[in-house]
Amino acid sequence: MTTTSHLTSAQSDLIAGLPPSFRWGVATSAYQIEGAVRSDGRTASIWDTFCRVPGAVVNGETGDVACDHYHRMPQDVALIQDLGIDTYRFSVAWPRVQPGGRGPANPAGLAFYDRLVDELLGRGVDPWVTLYHWDLPQELEDAGGWPARDTAYRFADYAMLVFDRLSDRVRSWTTLNEPWCSAMLGYAYGAHAPGRRDFTAALQAVHHLLLGHGLATQRMRAAATRPVELGITLNLGTAAAETDSELDRAAARRADGLGLRIYLDPLRHGRYPADVVTDLAARGVELPVRPGDLEIISAPLDLLGVNYYTSHVFSGVDEDGRTEDADGNPVERAVPRGLPTTAMDWEIFPEGLTDLLVRISRDYPGLPIVITESGAAFDDRPDETGFVRDDDRTAYLATHIAAVAAARQAGADVRGYFAWSLLDNFEWAYGYDKRFGIVRVDYDTQARVPKQSALWYGDTARRVRSGGSA
Ligand code: FCB
Repeated sequence: MTTTSHLTSAQSDLIAGLPPSFRWGVATSAYQIEGAVRSDGRTASIWDTFCRVPGAVVNGETGDVACDHYHRMPQDVALIQDLGIDTYRFSVAWPRVQPGGRGPANPAGLAFYDRLVDELLGRGVDPWVTLYHWDLPQELEDAGGWPARDTAYRFADYAMLVFDRLSDRVRSWTTLNEPWCSAMLGYAYGAHAPGRRDFTAALQAVHHLLLGHGLATQRMRAAATRPVELGITLNLGTAAAETDSELDRAAARRADGLGLRIYLDPLRHGRYPADVVTDLAARGVELPVRPGDLEIISAPLDLLGVNYYTSHVFSGVDEDGRTEDADGNPVERAVPRGLPTTAMDWEIFPEGLTDLLVRISRDYPGLPIVITESGAAFDDRPDETGFVRDDDRTAYLATHIAAVAAARQAGADVRGYFAWSLLDNFEWAYGYDKRFGIVRVDYDTQARVPKQSALWYGDTARRVRSGGSA
């Protein structure tokens, strides 16, 4: 057994007390690992385009080769099995399956995922499909992207091409990964593809992403011929006020509104939060809701995917004492807690995960949760054999799994934990600089070497699954 010395005995007991049915997964996404961007009929996505914008990605790096997973898939699946992990969450590249984002399926593109699913099942690993992890076909962006309503319908059509092909073998389906990132990083802040900076467009994107989710969910549910679990994955955290002042509490409320409630309220309660609608109106923004949309968006879900990395504290006052920014909008400043950080400069705050899960269970009851991503980038130092003794990442995983177990004890229905990520990979605007893998990738040779964290994670999964006797 590989142990970690970073856990208190209470945390070790919490992890050991997880039920044998708890799912232990690893997650990846298509553009971050596949490479082969021009193979077998794949067309460009907004990320292929964005990577070529000077200054958009660190060192001008791209996903052209990435981990070359497209050509190394069987070995990568074998690695998952060898580590003792039971679920693999991967995403399907829309421009591989439906080049250009419209029309019939591309048989060669679908065939890759067909082989992947068979390979996983053959090795006893459960496949978990994410339909959209940010790689919108460029042609659909040229036609308006997610701010355009039609994109929601295009997404549902594409979803059905994948569902029709794989749902005889795949039970677990996630429509969208982190619509907040697609909408805000992509359309408001310009940090992710397609690199636009237009707040109104970003809010239109929020609604159309949710609409696309709802349309796809309804159609998949209607077409299912065997039991399926349909869900969506959100990136969430807690938003606390720095002080009890009116301004700080309002800043935290707004952050929670645009970060969490603008997604979960329509998904679960069939309405947008009134305070968010009012805040948006004050900025001259109206969500493009048409009659019937909210019924579609609130189509029944089987589970919620939660991606958790950190949580924030907010102040309504900037460092110079101002309460409005240059555009006249109220200040919402994330204030460091002074905690240790990862290589992303994200504060390590596992308690936030417990609080978040307990809060979701209270405010949105009846929805089983799976942690579909959780993990950390650190500045790994491989030894001469390529082995990385990543005690920092091991501790990160262990304390966050213990935080999940604590939330379960407090009544939250959390059924699994997936480490981000199986492999070091293309970390979006950070390129290959930030390593999140539990398996090291040597980008010169494409060699994979499991890190200490992978060995600990797999051992822990085996032990818990076997009821503590492994
Ligand atoms: C999440 C993304 C994932 C990865 C991690 C670090 O926001 O879903 O692709 O980049 O962050």
